[in-house]
Formats: sequence, C-alpha cells, structure tokens
Amino acid sequence: MNINSPIGIFDSGVGGLTVARELFSLLPSEDIIYFGDVGRTPYGGRSENIIKQFTRQDISFLMEKKVKLIICACNTSSAVAIEDVKDRFDVEIIGVIKPGATVAADKTKNGMIGVIGTRATINSDAYAKTIKRIDPKLNVISHPCPLFVPLVEENYLENEAAKIIAGNYLQVMKDAGIDTLVLGCTHYPLMKDIISQIMGDSVRLIDSGEETAKAAQHYLYSITAVKEFVEKSKGERKFYVSDVPHQFSGIASRFLGHNIDSIEQVDITKY
Ligand code: DGL
Repeated sequence: MNINSPIGIFDSGVGGLTVARELFSLLPSEDIIYFGDVGRTPYGGRSENIIKQFTRQDISFLMEKKVKLIICACNTSSAVAIEDVKDRFDVEIIGVIKPGATVAADKTKNGMIGVIGTRATINSDAYAKTIKRIDPKLNVISHPCPLFVPLVEENYLENEAAKIIAGNYLQVMKDAGIDTLVLGCTHYPLMKDIISQIMGDSVRLIDSGEETAKAAQHYLYSITAVKEFVEKSKGERKFYVSDVPHQFSGIASRFLGHNIDSIEQVDITKY
C-alpha cells in the first residue's frame, strides 16, 4: 500500500458527503476521492442483489483510482453488500455498521438501543446482529424511516410535515424506552434537531457516519499510513458522480457545508 495514495469513499448518492466532510477535518492532508451514485440513488428500497451489484461497481471504480482505503459511507450498501463483496477486492473496506453499532453498545445505560434506516438496512438486521454480537444482553428495536431521505433532499425540514412524519416513525422508539438511537442512514444526521426534539434530551443520537470517519482515521494511524507522516499539506479532493441532476449542487452543498468546485461524471455501468 502506498501511503500517498488517496482514500476512496462512496455512497448511493450525496448523503456520504457528510462522512467526507468529517474525513476532511479529521485527515486534512489526505487526498480523497468521493464517488456518489447519484444516477441510481436511492438504494434503500432496492433488492439485495441489485444493491450488491451496484456496490461492487462503486468499489471497482474506486479501485481503478488506486486508493489505499475504501470507506462505504452508505448504510444500505454497508448493511446489505459489504460483507459479501469485500473479499473480491484487495483493499481494506470500512463500512458504517460496525463503528455505529460499537459506539451505541458502549454508550447505552439501560440496554435499549433503537436503530433507524432505509428499508433495506432495517430488513438486513445488520445493526441489530452487530450490536448483539458485541453484547447479547442488549435489546435492539429497529424501524425503517423511508420518507426521511426525500424530506432531507427536498429541504423540507422546516415544514410541519417533517415533524409529523418523524413523530409517527419514532413513536415505536419512545414506547420502547430506548436511551440510544443509531442514525443508520447518511441523511439522518441532517434531521438531528427534529429527531432530538421528538426523542428528548435523555436519548443519545449516534451518527454512524461520524463514527466511521473516526474509525478510518484510527485505522490509518494504526498502520502508520497517514499521509501527514510524509507530507503536511492540504489534500486534494475529487468528486465523481454517475449523474448530475437538477438541484444537485444545492443538495450537495447542504451535505458538505460548502460548494463543490468541480465534479466529474462517470459511466458506472462500465465497472
Ligand atoms: N445512502 C443511503 C443510506 O445511507 C440513503 C439513500 C439511499 O437509499 O440510497 O442508507
């Protein structure tokens, strides 16, 4: 592995930019390549086979860029596909499930953990299985929130509808008396305010993406593969997508916190 190689990060679309943003601040010297499968998003309602095929293609594209580490920022891909496809690739691949599950298991006091995510993520039971593997005594209540992704992308969060929908989805978590809630989808951190208003201060929200960025940083330090060991300058950031739809730059800048200067479109079906 070449210490100067870039880190690759991918997602089903723009959501993974929240993880990229975290990486930029934790590892400023690193060159980072982001791929967002914007043309085929969302993955969350798709079948397992298609999610695996798309995930393989996303990883193959990043492999062509000779990355030293791949971060799968997409919860759906991490939950449904990563374990199955990772052996095909000769690179370390970090998904979001384990980092999020580990922190949730560590932080809960009453042993009641909630997990929310897309339909595919929740159906896979990946978070619950990982949490139970860490501590079989923990209880996990999982619930899909499929309307959250469009609410975030349409910037509908100030609207009363968002609060009503979130209140409906989260009632099951309130009834169960959870004290920890895993935000198991790239988009949900942007709904933190609404979710914590509904759940109250006593429920801790776990941002899987944030924990994954920390896990990636920890991994690179543990194998002394952080670029700043050889060169302390600001890393280069490159963004690739499979389509550039209307309103893309507005949505992307909300996730990233700033505008993207240049973006390149790739034909992901070739991979
Ligand atoms: N990135 C996906 C996730 O984290 C959400 C959007 C989608 O369904 O593709 O699960």
